[in-house]
Amino acid sequence: MCGIVGYIGTRKACPILIEGLKRLEYRGYDSAGIAVLNDGRIDIHKATGKLMALEAMLESGMPEGFIGLGHTRWATHGRPSDENAHPHSDCTGRITVVHNGIIENYLALKEELVAAGHEFTSETDTEVVAHLVEESYKGDLVAAVRSAIKRLEGSYALAVMAQDDPERIVAARRHSPLVVGVGEGENFLASDVPAFLQYTKRVHFVEDNMIAVLERGEVKFSSLDGKPIEREVYEVTWDAAMAERGGYEHFMLKEINEQPQALRETMRERLSSQVSKVDLPGLTLTSDDLRGIDKITMIACGTAYHAAMVGKYAIESLVRIPVELDVASELRYRDPIIDDKTLGIIISQSGETADTLAGLREVRGKGAKLLAITNVVGSSVARECENVLYTFAGPEIAVASTKAYTTQLMVIHLIALYLAQVRGSISEEQAKQMRKILWTIPQQADVILGDHPEVLACAEKYYNHNGFLYMGRGPNLASALEGALKIKEISYIHAEGYAAGEMKHGPIAMIDPSVATVAVAPQGKTYDKIISNILEVKARQGDVIAIAYEHDDQIQKYADHVIRIPATHELMSPILAAIPLQLLAYYVAKNRGLEIDQPRNLAKSVTVE
Ligand code: G6P
Repeated sequence: MCGIVGYIGTRKACPILIEGLKRLEYRGYDSAGIAVLNDGRIDIHKATGKLMALEAMLESGMPEGFIGLGHTRWATHGRPSDENAHPHSDCTGRITVVHNGIIENYLALKEELVAAGHEFTSETDTEVVAHLVEESYKGDLVAAVRSAIKRLEGSYALAVMAQDDPERIVAARRHSPLVVGVGEGENFLASDVPAFLQYTKRVHFVEDNMIAVLERGEVKFSSLDGKPIEREVYEVTWDAAMAERGGYEHFMLKEINEQPQALRETMRERLSSQVSKVDLPGLTLTSDDLRGIDKITMIACGTAYHAAMVGKYAIESLVRIPVELDVASELRYRDPIIDDKTLGIIISQSGETADTLAGLREVRGKGAKLLAITNVVGSSVARECENVLYTFAGPEIAVASTKAYTTQLMVIHLIALYLAQVRGSISEEQAKQMRKILWTIPQQADVILGDHPEVLACAEKYYNHNGFLYMGRGPNLASALEGALKIKEISYIHAEGYAAGEMKHGPIAMIDPSVATVAVAPQGKTYDKIISNILEVKARQGDVIAIAYEHDDQIQKYADHVIRIPATHELMSPILAAIPLQLLAYYVAKNRGLEIDQPRNLAKSVTVE
């Protein structure tokens, strides 16, 4: 949460900072601010609210200058206000700081600094950093930042600029993401690559406890005790256009529509034809390693956790290994039973979620082997796991996750089939059948996206309803939870996702004509049971929207609306079921006139615990 950007070069810094912040707004949008070093002084502009407010403020004149910092905030310490907006300065206004993370010992530091005569102007934890740098600054900004951060506890990606040291930006990182973009005679820094993708694709990923010093012509890295560090340059494969809306009204709609292509990309090279076996290039775990595993622990947050839920069904069913699931924020406090025969599967779109990273370290500490599923090359999760399988979804900008989810599901099915192959837990005939079915999923996703009048009709009919209940069974329990999460996230309608069999133990009390129920009901093992659950809702005057297979000619007798999806294997049906659920949430939010890409109170990448 919070996005930071920095620029030093030969172009005017302000427009570059604003453009960069636009691409980081998904990280928070409570306030925005920039600082530009111009003619020997630091010029700061900040405004509460979305970046638009800052842009409006700058219409009367952008600060000149070729070096600057920017910030978009997701408030943690101190309400959203102009005073609490970053950049923050020291007492003299000669040193300025932007920060993403939480300085956990800020109160003690603040007391100490106030006692030493420092005057604070905000309620933020960040401001202590500016005053600490001021305390240590004796003409060498790098040394001052180094000594300041030695005092900090918690997490930070920081960038600091000083009026008296106008030819550099000093940045540091601990547990919050930070990347440096390398240009010709100019350099960039940001919380995430899309911020500078239109200028350079060459990046350095900054590691924890590392300091980066950006000058126009070079970037130097060093450890906290000043030892120089050589960093590799990565070439990013995403291009700037991928992070644009491309004619769609919202990123979310664009990303929903990108799913067939994203699924194909994610499958390519791993399942190269209908008849080939699954290959997982890049996996360093040997077949012997995989045969030696006696348990899998899957860790994730939010939507990625729902992907893990599907993973449990797929892996247990095809591989017959017990799979444990953990919401990352819970795992580390329950002392899980994990050893070197456990495979930890870590799922994270951004690869930067603080809870997920903490969970990863917990399972690694207990000796588990690690396999990451992430969308971001070079992210912390990718760097900390010895095995990484990327979802090739391209940048996901909308806060509500869509294509990252379905591509995570694709990778999970590939893993399940690969493990089954290596361990011989299913027959080759069955494996062949499953691979064929998985192979057709991207084109089935195309069909769903082609035309969806029933989704539009439901969004029109129910957008003013008081609540939604989502129910599903088996792997589609995850679909119910994900459908409810999507609608909560972007339309602010109360929604619950439930195991359909649990409806009678509580949620059914909520049913009345103002609450609509979405039943995810593809035909499979529990089809008859979910039909009974639909009837229970109907008996209580609730409307039911069913997600069902095209050829299901029974369901329309029971449900008020039927949204059709092509038939597939039950284990894989959550991939297809996700798409109408995403569309329904999108159009409900649109009918309600809401923001969609930047829902209130949320941030896409949650880098605080
Ligand atoms: C935030 C986002 C969710 C996302 C979750 C986990 O809450 O709003 O959409 O599912 O973080 O993010 P990750 O990047 O780890 O998948």
